[in-house]
Amino acid sequence: MEPAKLDIPFVPSTAEKIRIMVKMANLQGGERMADLGSGDGRVVIAFAKAGAIAQGFEADPSRAMLGQKNIIVQGMEDVARISEKNFWKADLSEFNIITLFGITSMMKQMEKKLKKELKTGAKVISNTFIFPEWEPVQVENNVYLYVKN
Ligand SMILES: C[S@@+](CC[C@H](N)C(=O)[O-])C[C@H]1O[C@@H](n2cnc3c(N)ncnc32)[C@H](O)[C@@H]1O
Repeated sequence: MEPAKLDIPFVPSTAEKIRIMVKMANLQGGERMADLGSGDGRVVIAFAKAGAIAQGFEADPSRAMLGQKNIIVQGMEDVARISEKNFWKADLSEFNIITLFGITSMMKQMEKKLKKELKTGAKVISNTFIFPEWEPVQVENNVYLYVKN
């Protein structure tokens, strides 16, 4: 089997960035969120603990496994899950909240995918990287909140 093609290296979000991401989501409970490139699962776990039904997509098999293990260690497996999957191939239409910590080179293509697939009112929260055309509605400490209209 070919090794997974990764668009972004693994760099974990800091606890402070995750705190801001969760705050920006303004969760009411039961929202469906997906983290695109979920690494060790820390963002997925934080959102699940804050009340979301959380899903990670991770292309690196060993990180996907680690993320799922971390979910189980935290006892969050009823509301959080990591799928070993390339996020470009994931159907994002069912999610109310998308989080990502990407890289500049992917943001144009990702803007297109998100605008095509997400429903009106869906939130996208990006750690550090901005979309080329989409205007954020909120910015804090290099975390950007976008809303699909
Ligand atoms: C910058 S890290 C962010 C990890 C986590 N979201 C966080 O904020 O702590 C990006 C992750 O995306 C994964 N990744 C890269 N390209 C991917 C792709 N095409 N599909 C799914 N995951 C991918 C990498 O393996 C890495 O774990």
